[in-house]
Amino acid sequence: MVGYQFMGKAHSHAYRDLPFFFDTGIKPVQKAISGRNESAVKKAAERFGWESYETDWRRLIEREDIDVIDIVTPNHTHAEIAIAAAEAGKNIITEKPLALTLDEAQQMYEAVQKNKVTHMICHNYRFSPAVQFTKKLIDQGRLGKIYHFRANYLQDFIMDPQFPLVWRLKKDVSGSGVLGDIGAHSIDLARFLVGEFKEVVSMMETFIKERPVGEMTEGLSAVSDNSTLGEVTVDDATAFLARFENGALGTFEATRFAGGNRNKNKFEINGEKGSVRWDMENMNNLEVYFHDDEPGLQGFRLINCTEEFHPYAGAYWPAGHIIGYEHTFIHLVHEFLNGIANNYQPSPNFEDGLKNQKVLVAVEKSAESKQWVNV
Ligand SMILES: NC(=O)c1ccc[n+]([C@@H]2O[C@H](COP(=O)([O-])OP(=O)(O)OC[C@H]3O[C@@H](n4cnc5c(N)ncnc54)[C@H](O)[C@@H]3O)[C@@H](O)[C@H]2O)c1
Repeated sequence: MVGYQFMGKAHSHAYRDLPFFFDTGIKPVQKAISGRNESAVKKAAERFGWESYETDWRRLIEREDIDVIDIVTPNHTHAEIAIAAAEAGKNIITEKPLALTLDEAQQMYEAVQKNKVTHMICHNYRFSPAVQFTKKLIDQGRLGKIYHFRANYLQDFIMDPQFPLVWRLKKDVSGSGVLGDIGAHSIDLARFLVGEFKEVVSMMETFIKERPVGEMTEGLSAVSDNSTLGEVTVDDATAFLARFENGALGTFEATRFAGGNRNKNKFEINGEKGSVRWDMENMNNLEVYFHDDEPGLQGFRLINCTEEFHPYAGAYWPAGHIIGYEHTFIHLVHEFLNGIANNYQPSPNFEDGLKNQKVLVAVEKSAESKQWVNV
């Protein structure tokens, strides 16, 4: 594993808990974690259960006792690490967005193809049982033809103008702002559930243009000594409309300025025979509406997706005994190891990451040109 903060904790936990609940035939061994600060990475290795640590990620790639490289560092590092890992024949999980630019994303995809390694990108929200169940309903035709995909991904952790200028707010490190950070998750959910994007039209805004320079600490917290101000070079909020290849219409909003919304990752899908609604902050629940329900009793029904009929849920607890955020990562790693064990390429993978990046680029181009842009 390269990196050891927010996602380092989430992925480490997934490797630790996976064999407790699932049997993929492969038991992950947490060999080594790397980070540039020796005392911090040593502490992370102990806390997160890694056998050893390195202070340069290149050492992980050289080590013959390592089969998987997991990249949980900022976006500008993904390409170099992933390409080196692929060339050394390592299987790869990387965090999203795939890369800083489309060109890098393309090179990463070519590297994993050429070296025939197993690869995934961590769009973990796909792996909520309620989202997987939505996919099943759509594939079974229960919603019919899809007309609308409506997504909001709303956060508020940088609303304070004193929140520091961290890597997430610098274009040369993160690629884009809220668009690539959380908008990319909505794009992935849309591609998973509805299909490929055809064209987009967008607007983007940066509300706070300067902030005190600082760095991320744990989770979504940050510190600054408040001595120097720096320029915010990414979007604070992005909204866009989309047409899908299959004729469905999409409306998307991603913002870190929606006060009171901590991690409100929501979508609603309307089809000719029914609708579904999902909200990450109540991730076990799915609201489902069927057009052919008895007149007088029609309306959204609330389904708690914790039964054996709901993907992954049966591995945990009796119905109604809910699971959480961390389990989405366990399911993603489960899919990754299943792919390795049974020789198939799991999704979402680098191809999905590349297609996602094409949407991100089109959204940015549209905001600049104020025109519809083909994906
Ligand atoms: N799937 C999700 O829901 C989700 C959530 C948060 C973040 N992410 C993604 O995960 C990645 C990491 O985000 P995070 O929130 O864990 O960030 P973070 O700031 O909490 O941690 C970043 C880690 O990378 C290390 N690092 C920073 N620059 C480095 C460099 N140049 N070389 C080597 N190591 C470096 C830091 O020391 C730290 O350990 C990003 O790509 C981000 O977009 C995904």
